[in-house]
Amino acid sequence: MTQTRNTVVITGASRGIGAALVKAYTAQGAKVIAVSRSLPATPLPNVVAFAADLGTDEGIAALTRATKAHGQPIDILINNAGVQNEIDLTGPADTVQIDAEIALNLVGPIKLTLALLPFLRAPGGSVVNVTSLVSLHPKPSAPVYSATKAGLASFTRALRHQLASKAITVIDVIPPLVATEMTAGRGSGKLSPEDMAEAIVTGIARGEVQIAPGKSKLVLRLNRLFPGLIARILSNE
Ligand SMILES: NC(=O)c1ccc[n+]([C@@H]2O[C@H](COP(=O)([O-])OP(=O)(O)OC[C@H]3O[C@@H](n4cnc5c(N)ncnc54)[C@H](OP(=O)(O)O)[C@@H]3O)[C@@H](O)[C@H]2O)c1
Repeated sequence: MTQTRNTVVITGASRGIGAALVKAYTAQGAKVIAVSRSLPATPLPNVVAFAADLGTDEGIAALTRATKAHGQPIDILINNAGVQNEIDLTGPADTVQIDAEIALNLVGPIKLTLALLPFLRAPGGSVVNVTSLVSLHPKPSAPVYSATKAGLASFTRALRHQLASKAITVIDVIPPLVATEMTAGRGSGKLSPEDMAEAIVTGIARGEVQIAPGKSKLVLRLNRLFPGLIARILSNE
């Protein structure tokens, strides 16, 4: 395994894909600023664990201050934190929950990226946004989640164009179903968080702008040929 001195900011680091990313990067010798609302019970070497609600301006400002205080350029920012709510649009709307979902999944990554941009290594840094296959076609039972991921995918493409002049790579990660708390009780043949993290780490190191391991790769290919079929399949996920 290649050793690195990279500094990596990972959001949504307390469990699932984010926690696996923290392990993968520290195993490479990277310094990690790991962010979520809850902190790990025991400190991990080379990890600065930082508690913040990234669905709030205060949380983003606090993380920005902590990143600045770290005093080293950030090599990689991974916007991974996310939440998925099933919402019945025909029933009474829980607007507080909807606001929180949009704030964490879409507004948060946009604001955090802009706030940390001055500290990103240029040339050579990477911004990595974890989107979803539902950015292609919405999952009807999770309409707000689908809208936030489509928005984040669009922001990712626009940012890629703008940051090309600074030689910062902007990457869209499109996971297939991964066995985490978010997908508990649904789906089969899921990728492990460790395999997902490995695909992300490898893809970033290779400078790929789209990382779509496992079934995601096939879905993206088929979507170019049969978008109607893929829309039907994704609507049942
Ligand atoms: N699992 C899949 O199949 C799949 C597929 C496609 C895309 N994705 C995307 O991959 C990313 C990671 O998903 P996952 O499956 O690993 O989810 P997960 O296991 O539910 O973990 C979500 C992470 O986000 C953190 N988080 C939640 N609310 C937060 C907040 N307000 N502020 C800061 N951190 C917060 C959680 O920590 P705390 O609760 O401690 O804050 C946790 O660390 C998400 O963006 C998700 O949409 C997942």
